[in-house]
Amino acid sequence: MQLSPEQLTLQARAAELSNGLISARAAEVDRSREYPWDNVELLKQAGFLGMTIPQELGGQGRSFLDTVLVIEQMARSCTVTARIVVEANMGAISAVMAYGTDAQRKLAADLVLNGDKPAICITEPDAGSDASGMTTRADKRGNRYVLNGRKHWITGAGVSRLHLIFARVYDEAGEDLGVGGFLAIRGAEGLAVTKRETTMGLCGMPEGELTFTDLEITPDMVLLPPSGFKRGFADLMNAYNSQRVGAGTVAMGIAAGALQHATVWAKMREQFGRPIAEFQGLQWMLADMQTQLTASRLMLYTAAASTGPNGSAFPDPDLAAQAKIFASEAAIKIVNDALQVFGARGYSRDFPLERMARDVRMFTIGGGTAQVLRTLVASKLLGMKLPQTRDGYVNAPLTIR
Ligand code: FAD
Ligand code: COA
Repeated sequence: MQLSPEQLTLQARAAELSNGLISARAAEVDRSREYPWDNVELLKQAGFLGMTIPQELGGQGRSFLDTVLVIEQMARSCTVTARIVVEANMGAISAVMAYGTDAQRKLAADLVLNGDKPAICITEPDAGSDASGMTTRADKRGNRYVLNGRKHWITGAGVSRLHLIFARVYDEAGEDLGVGGFLAIRGAEGLAVTKRETTMGLCGMPEGELTFTDLEITPDMVLLPPSGFKRGFADLMNAYNSQRVGAGTVAMGIAAGALQHATVWAKMREQFGRPIAEFQGLQWMLADMQTQLTASRLMLYTAAASTGPNGSAFPDPDLAAQAKIFASEAAIKIVNDALQVFGARGYSRDFPLERMARDVRMFTIGGGTAQVLRTLVASKLLGMKLPQTRDGYVNAPLTIR
């Protein structure tokens, strides 16, 4: 894919920031497990937050492809920083920009342009892949809604200010109206962080559980999907396709960074009296890594530049799913092989490969697992609806001892 001169300049600017201060801080962000507010400030100054926000709201009106170029560069050095760029340009913020009222769009734009990374709240303890099985409810009371329920594994829990919460909507008679999006700001009464996860990687980005207890949503904070609540879930998931491309790009960027490290190391490290890069066993490994990386990049760029059916402003769901599946699985293999090129040092915390290997493992899980996304791809390919719910099956709440 041919990038424009302006896109190449944007990419070069992102690479410069990533190779400089972002790279220098990456190991410390991982070790401290603290949200990198300093990096948020750098991203803000560079104009990498809210790039997709329209110019009339203070953003740059950039495309998802432009955003992907920046994400890739950040992920080469620091996964947490790349994920901030994803969530400050895609997912919740793009849903608000597409579906929100003027006031909601202004509220969200002001928050993001001032350093917020919004949280998108879909997953629940008993509704992960089966996201439409959510039980968080929004009960209509007059012109307001009252939210009760629990979401978990919410990226940015405790640091994000703007929250987009998916909830099942009930009218005053208790009738299920469908799914809506509800906006809430950190600190609202009834919105609490009730757990922080201890993760294998991506340390520095809080993942947590949110509990809603009679969280009151005033009419101005209801994000009404364009087709109404009845098809609200489909509309909201449609907006989420942008974030799937973003997540796949983070994985691809980590892989690109790992391959770069491996290439440099293979030429530096000598065994048997010559650089290990001279061994064909490693050359073919590196060539396969490069091939997988190029394929991932092409798929992601194509998905980012695509649009979905019916005039959707978001990436095509099928292309986004294919790109995320391929890139996330390829990235795990590429990073693992890069670690192998480093020998024992790859396994050491003194080198970046072990951090990258921990970070990259997540991307076949979060944002729709590789298995669930295959169902989406198969459904499109076969032209068949593929319902996964077994009729008559009653779910027992999950308890882990
Ligand atoms: P489950 O749904 O329990 O799946 C378990 C296994 O079963 C998986 O291997 C899955 O692929 C497989 N499986 C399930 N159903 C099928 C099927 N029909 N066919 C074949 N295989 C199937 N969620 C948010 O809402 N907001 C966030 O910000 C967010 N951030 C996250 C950040 C991280 C680091 C992680 C790890 C997760 C995050 N999530 C977030 C949650 C994430 O989206 C879910 O983990 C994911 O959708 C899978 O749900 P689950 O973990 O409950 O797995
Ligand atoms: N983009 C656009 N539309 C989508 C969509 C997407 N990514 N995913 C689902 N939809 C639409 C479907 O096309 C369907 O519309 P239709 O009624 O016109 O056919 C509607 O939403 C319901 O989808 P369906 O697949 O029938 O729902 P389901 O109850 O079987 O649920 C999903 C399956 C969508 C929940 C599941 O495939 C999924 O994506 N799980 C992962 C959730 C996730 O990504 N969480 C990330 C949290 S950060």
